[in-house]
Amino acid sequence: MKSIIIIYGSSTDNTRDAAEQIAKKLADFSPEIKDVAKVSEEDFLKHDVLILGTSTMGIGDLQDDWDTYLPKFQKLDLSGKTVALFGLGDSAGYSDSFVDGMGTLYKELKNKDVTLIGKVLASDYSFDESTAVEGGSFVGLALDADNEHNKTAPRIAAWVEAIKPFLK
Ligand SMILES: Cc1cc2nc3c(=O)[nH]c(=O)nc-3n(C[C@H](O)[C@H](O)[C@H](O)COP(=O)(O)O)c2cc1C
Repeated sequence: MKSIIIIYGSSTDNTRDAAEQIAKKLADFSPEIKDVAKVSEEDFLKHDVLILGTSTMGIGDLQDDWDTYLPKFQKLDLSGKTVALFGLGDSAGYSDSFVDGMGTLYKELKNKDVTLIGKVLASDYSFDESTAVEGGSFVGLALDADNEHNKTAPRIAAWVEAIKPFLK
């Protein structure tokens, strides 16, 4: 079984809550879970699977703590890692930049030799623009705690089931 860490950046705890729900669903794997404000390089390097979560702030900006960590993230050699992304956003209030923070993390990962898992069809969501969409799918799990809170638990459950085969 692969070793997993969930690393999240969260300004008002929504992404943290989602991270904790994901961790619970993956309890069999005993994942580590950490706030990106408190991570070390070693946290990224010692695990096989990285589950990275961020909210979007400003207009399409990466969550603050992730933004602060970004220069270090860019320098990490994550070759061979399996990576899954999740992003919190507001599809009604910020319909033109929905979960763009997840798009920013994805852009960084494109420069790295990683295997990305956990894409989600965008057709289940209502929004105008997102940098986190490629070919009709979100590059990870999009969640909207502001407008679709009731969909969060089932979306997490379905997503975790979809990524589990890649975690064995
Ligand atoms: C000032 C501000 C700006 C935001 N900008 C965006 C945005 O551009 N795109 C988006 O999808 N959500 C945006 N949001 C919504 C947050 O991403 C959303 O509320 C999220 O659940 C917050 O998660 P967190 O508590 O983990 O930080 C914004 C929220 C605030 C307060």
